[in-house]
Amino acid sequence: MPTIVARLRAAGCVFAEDEAAILRSAASATELDRLVQRRVNGEPLEYVVGWAQFHGQRIQVEPGVFIPRRRTEFLVDVALGILGGSGQETAIVVDLCCGSGAIGAALLATWPQIALFAVDIDPRAVGCARLNVGGERVHEGDLFDPLPHRLRKKVRLVVANTPYVPTGDIELLPREARLHEPRKTLDGGSDGLDIQRRIAARAPEWLTPGGQLLVETSARQAPETARIFAGHGLSARVEHGAEVDATTVIGTLPA
Ligand SMILES: C[S@@+](CC[C@H](N)C(=O)[O-])C[C@H]1O[C@@H](n2cnc3c(N)ncnc32)[C@H](O)[C@@H]1O
Repeated sequence: MPTIVARLRAAGCVFAEDEAAILRSAASATELDRLVQRRVNGEPLEYVVGWAQFHGQRIQVEPGVFIPRRRTEFLVDVALGILGGSGQETAIVVDLCCGSGAIGAALLATWPQIALFAVDIDPRAVGCARLNVGGERVHEGDLFDPLPHRLRKKVRLVVANTPYVPTGDIELLPREARLHEPRKTLDGGSDGLDIQRRIAARAPEWLTPGGQLLVETSARQAPETARIFAGHGLSARVEHGAEVDATTVIGTLPA
């Protein structure tokens, strides 16, 4: 009988030793073989064990919910810098397209006093986010629609990792994403920016003067994302984290 590491390696897992250790720690002796087989069959490790590592947190994830990416930690760092730098650790923060709630959970881990509102359109994501950030903070619906009206003009930060893969590029994604993550968590329309456009158009109704919209995008898409922001009265700047190849566009509503 080949070892777990050998089975994972034969299935194409690049970090077979690390994955074997994670699988061993996640399963009882009787479950282990079944979990290893799911992984060997190509299921993402995070779905098999039920969690993803994100910004030092263990985020619960379930099949059908977008797996938070390490790249998105950069957006969290930009948001934490803004909140800390402006002494606004109790600010109202909205996480749109929250998925598992990973971004909000990471922000709360550093600034537990923020008033976090997280929104996703997919009931499975909403259920998962409720486990990660607390039920009362998560709202189901389309972008800003489910937020309480009292937040209008009061939000300090809107953070959003929207679907932003151009439709024509979906087939170029790694197999695990293409086959296991729902298309609507990935597909951002013909240029990938459909949802970013809708968020930028509505953000000024919700941001407080001087408030900011932070969106993850790709380096290639960033100039267009910035143009979209500017078209809605947000002064835009782009930050790039070369180490993780992450790009965040920051739009600021004039004070
Ligand atoms: C790329 S995933 C990001 C999830 C999470 N922010 C993260 O970084 O792990 C995009 C998420 O947007 C959600 N979504 C797509 N369209 C939406 C809409 N119109 N309103 C709210 N959420 C939406 C999807 O259900 C999915 O969970």
